Amino acid sequence: MRTLVTGGAGFIGSEYVRRLLDADPTARITVLDSLAYSGVEANLAQVARHPGYRFVRGDICDPDTVDQVTAGHDAVVHFAAESHVDRSIEGAGPFVRTNVVGTQVLLDAALRHRVGRFLHVSTDEVYGSISEGSWTETSPLAPNSPYSASKSAADLLVLAYHRTHGLDAVVTRCTNNYGPHQFPEKVVPLFITRLIEGRSIPLYGDGRNIRDWLHVSDHCRGIELALRGGKAGEVYHIGGGTEVSNHKLTGLLLDAVGADWDRVEYVADRKGHDLRYSLDDSKIREQLGYAPLVPFAEGLAATVAWYRGNRSWWEPLRARAELR
Ligand SMILES: NC(=O)c1ccc[n+]([C@@H]2O[C@H](COP(=O)([O-])OP(=O)(O)OC[C@H]3O[C@@H](n4cnc5c(N)ncnc54)[C@H](O)[C@@H]3O)[C@@H](O)[C@H]2O)c1
Repeated sequence: MRTLVTGGAGFIGSEYVRRLLDADPTARITVLDSLAYSGVEANLAQVARHPGYRFVRGDICDPDTVDQVTAGHDAVVHFAAESHVDRSIEGAGPFVRTNVVGTQVLLDAALRHRVGRFLHVSTDEVYGSISEGSWTETSPLAPNSPYSASKSAADLLVLAYHRTHGLDAVVTRCTNNYGPHQFPEKVVPLFITRLIEGRSIPLYGDGRNIRDWLHVSDHCRGIELALRGGKAGEVYHIGGGTEVSNHKLTGLLLDAVGADWDRVEYVADRKGHDLRYSLDDSKIREQLGYAPLVPFAEGLAATVAWYRGNRSWWEPLRARAELR
């Protein structure tokens, strides 16, 4: 199978590509990535010599590039996106462009080139916020941020291309990812890197917002299961099974780095901050045999160790991490 992976230089996409190529000398993967601010080609350095690997620097919104690159592929795994909620609050334009228009450009190319399967990587944030219980795949979409609204639009386009044109498409929606190579603007790497540098960390509001944490390697296993065994036109949730408040997460990270609560600066809450996300992922567990394997405490400790050991990776990214 020749797979086109968009956004393969980012946090999750690069984990997906490394896993696949490391495990299979016969795998063939083309990465299409514009190397936007969060894209780091060095994330793929360890697979650069794999005979089945090809990197194309290009924008998913550019129909000519996408058309040329898509030809000859059996599957598309679509990660490329603007993914940081805070940036979408500063300005929604790039989110609509990449997440909505870019997805439409890819879908058209996938149809034209008769790609056998299109897997769209999405998020639990499309459902809004839930104070109790968990969303199933049929819960209504009610996004609250420009980021999640743009992802919802993309999800609906993917499902519409399946219904209207018969494109073989699957959508996965996952919870908050953590792990190595995450761009240092998201809460886990932001806090770890600032704590390592001896700086303060900004905690939104009172820290009672709850997220379910999923190790990036578990997410990528779930994607692979959905790619290979998922039913066309279906949505699959991928969860981590670890609900933690931001306050508790902060305490765990302080402990891991050996710092005290006096390093925490309480800052004004994010506008429209969703209180809680929670996915019911029994469908992928029962139908495709998914279960997360990385216990949160272990995964978090390994992530802190990775950032400690890879300062040369994240230090140059600090300037890029500032809001535009
Ligand atoms: N990180 C999470 O916790 C999380 C949770 C749920 C869903 N997701 C989804 O997973 C996907 C990947 O997220 P991530 O955390 O790895 O993001 P990331 O920001 O680390 O990576 C995004 C990648 O997309 C590339 N890109 C951006 N715009 C592009 C464009 N116009 N053309 C080509 N490439 C472009 C970037 O260069 C980068 O390599 C996204 O679709 C995101 O919505 C992420």
